[in-house]
Amino acid sequence: MNILTIVGARPQFIKAAPVSQALRARHREVLVHTGQHYDVAMSDVFFAELGIPQPDVNLGVGSGSHGQQTGRMLMAIEEALLGERPDWVLVYGDTNSTLAGALAAIKLGVPVAHVEAGLRSFNRAMPEEHNRVLTDHCADLLFCPTQTAVDLLATEGLASGVHLVGDVMVDALRQHAEMARQRSDVLARLGLLPKGYLLATVHRPYNTDVPENLRSIFAAFNDIYRRSGRPVVLPLHPRTRQRMDDLALDPPDGVRLIDPVGYLDMLALEQAAAMILTDSGGIQKEAYTFAVPCVTLRPETEWVETVQAGWNVVAGADRSAIVQAATQYTWPADLPPSVFGDGHAAERIVEVLERA
Ligand code: UD1
Ligand code: UDP
Repeated sequence: MNILTIVGARPQFIKAAPVSQALRARHREVLVHTGQHYDVAMSDVFFAELGIPQPDVNLGVGSGSHGQQTGRMLMAIEEALLGERPDWVLVYGDTNSTLAGALAAIKLGVPVAHVEAGLRSFNRAMPEEHNRVLTDHCADLLFCPTQTAVDLLATEGLASGVHLVGDVMVDALRQHAEMARQRSDVLARLGLLPKGYLLATVHRPYNTDVPENLRSIFAAFNDIYRRSGRPVVLPLHPRTRQRMDDLALDPPDGVRLIDPVGYLDMLALEQAAAMILTDSGGIQKEAYTFAVPCVTLRPETEWVETVQAGWNVVAGADRSAIVQAATQYTWPADLPPSVFGDGHAAERIVEVLERA
């Protein structure tokens, strides 16, 4: 089999790592990097740490408005597809790179396989919601991480080609969690003690591009610091850094800004955090898998299982809701039930592709 894989943004490098490894054991993979993320700390570091082969092609598309960025990708991916003529195009998640890959492929009649299919926030203001709905409807194979995702696809009339395989991010986490504990010295470097800090990430436009939401989140982090005595460590996404610069927004005392970290450092920081506060999709799942309490800085989540199990509280950007969730909520005594698969999603994906 000849597979062309498209990645471009940080979480996609992590998702693609276990699948690439399983695929390359028996098949040919051409890895196309759209260049959506390009800083060393947003891209190269993941290829090095996760042992992902260097991209065969980097389209160098970079940043831009949604139309510009997606349009440039569409043109460049089409050219790559015409050169390669693969049996399948493999796309991940819900970024502009995902949609561009799916559209370029379907228009050339190349079958599309979508990993992390069936996720929905039902919030049409999110760019990711358009990307994932449209990608699912382009796809011939839809690889779902959860039963919820399978059920949601059925409500949209998508049943054929749908496979419940588990979550490839949990595959990556299981392969690297112990390595992170052994090899990462991030806690020592930052002078942190296990459970002596909270870990946060913020990058969604809903939070970064609405100044009152960004200010409210920082105020909440500072309130939590004052009540708990624990600082909030925040590896800052470049989008958020740019908005803070635009607003001349300085972090309050209780917030410790650091540059984005590599995967092993991030897994080490997550495992030792007293709590995680995030608007990231992937990090909600990682918090759950590590049994670290999570407060989600969004009005809703696609990962409803984490909320149902009591390990995730959806607080949005409201200062008092965030502080209340972080300081007053009673977290479950039992470990979270396993809902994201057994760490072998990647092998299942390859088996399904082989049978298709
Ligand atoms: C993108 C995805 C989002 C995903 C996130 C993961 C879309 C629509 N959004 O959001 O779903 O959760 O990646 O992190 O695809 N920038 C840099 N250096 C980089 C990359 C970006 O400075 O290496 C800055 C640029 O100013 C850019 C901004 O960050 O304009 C936003 O980057 P972009 O890739 O458009 O969206 P993300 O917010 O990263
Ligand atoms: N991540 C990382 N370093 C960071 C922030 C995140 O390695 O500084 C990892 C994180 O562990 C997870 C993935 O990046 O595996 C999540 O990516 P992100 O939050 O950018 O995107 P989302 O999941 O929201 O699409």
